[in-house]
Amino acid sequence: VHLKKVIITTEDRRSEIIIGGKWTEVAGYIPIERTVVITDENIFRIYGEKFPSCQVFCIRPGEKSKNLDTIENLGSKLLSAGVDRGGFILGIGGGVVCDIAGFLASVYMRGIRFGFVSSSLLSQVDASVGGKNGVNLGSVKNIFGTFNQPEFVICDTDMLKTLPEDEYLSGLAELIKMGAALSKSLLDSIEKNKEMIMARETKLMESLVYESVRLKADIVSEDEKESGKRKILNFGHTFGHVIEAVTGQKHGLAIASGMKIAAVISVLEGMLQESESKHLIGLLGYFSLLKDHDISVEVYEKMIGTDKKREGADVSFVLLEAEGKALIKKISVKRLTGYIGLIEKIR
Ligand SMILES: NC(=O)c1ccc[n+]([C@@H]2O[C@H](COP(=O)([O-])OP(=O)(O)OC[C@H]3O[C@@H](n4cnc5c(N)ncnc54)[C@H](O)[C@@H]3O)[C@@H](O)[C@H]2O)c1
Repeated sequence: VHLKKVIITTEDRRSEIIIGGKWTEVAGYIPIERTVVITDENIFRIYGEKFPSCQVFCIRPGEKSKNLDTIENLGSKLLSAGVDRGGFILGIGGGVVCDIAGFLASVYMRGIRFGFVSSSLLSQVDASVGGKNGVNLGSVKNIFGTFNQPEFVICDTDMLKTLPEDEYLSGLAELIKMGAALSKSLLDSIEKNKEMIMARETKLMESLVYESVRLKADIVSEDEKESGKRKILNFGHTFGHVIEAVTGQKHGLAIASGMKIAAVISVLEGMLQESESKHLIGLLGYFSLLKDHDISVEVYEKMIGTDKKREGADVSFVLLEAEGKALIKKISVKRLTGYIGLIEKIR
């Protein structure tokens, strides 16, 4: 087996992302006797039989579990199970499981060791890589959390075969985002291998996940705490978050529509060639990632104007100057949402 590894180094940590191996080999990475597994019911149903022989705690699948109640609940289970500072938490699952497992491991007894088997496409290309973790407060996302790198993340693209279609597409949108914002060559590979991507071909997905992780790792190593360059990864997210919140669309699908808007705004701002914007939008359309929605300028204005990431009247908006080349520009909320009326016409 040809393992690909990406190493993330931050001030105080070294984290290894392993792509191309079998997830069942995770036993070789953990202190079995001291490990507890955190997973969700779906994953446990499909893969539980092959879990390493550790105690397993299952959460309900889905975003609703990402709250402090779950942390408290799991915390008391760890305590009853006798997990001490020498314990190890292994999260096996998608972004929700990884965010919860990472946060719990960061605060339980002021922090214990942890690692992930990352099972969804979204978590392989994005969520489990980079050391952000956390839980929501009501409907406000990721209010409690830490920056803390897992010791390892195992990405086995064979696991993607069992993902529900909408979850797969949602992850695909984040993969396209990585290409659009950071790498024309990744975008080209996606374009060139459209059919194999839809067929979830293990080896091809492995190389795309690897490429994406490598790109993210470079950024995280440079700017772990998102004070600068890491913000580029928010391409499509300013409008995408509003679409997600208002329509309830899957995260990645909402981000896809957000990318379309951001690409068109990049053209309107005179940064991006119209042909490039059309090309990106065409790719998003090919994978059926652009769902209809009908959100008014007023709603965008209100929601972007109160976004936790805004800075006064401005937002750090991610624009493209070319496919594969994003940049951050401070733009006022008014100016940004003023473009909305033009979007449908220009496209
Ligand atoms: N920490 C970060 O940097 C970061 C980045 C992006 C997203 N996130 C977070 O990630 C979460 C979304 O992640 P997600 O899309 O993986 O959601 P998820 O963990 O809820 O997984 C989606 C669904 O797919 C199921 N599933 C996962 N892997 C499967 C598999 N191999 N086979 C069958 N079913 C499988 C899950 O049980 C769940 O029902 C959000 O909470 C988001 O905030 C975090």
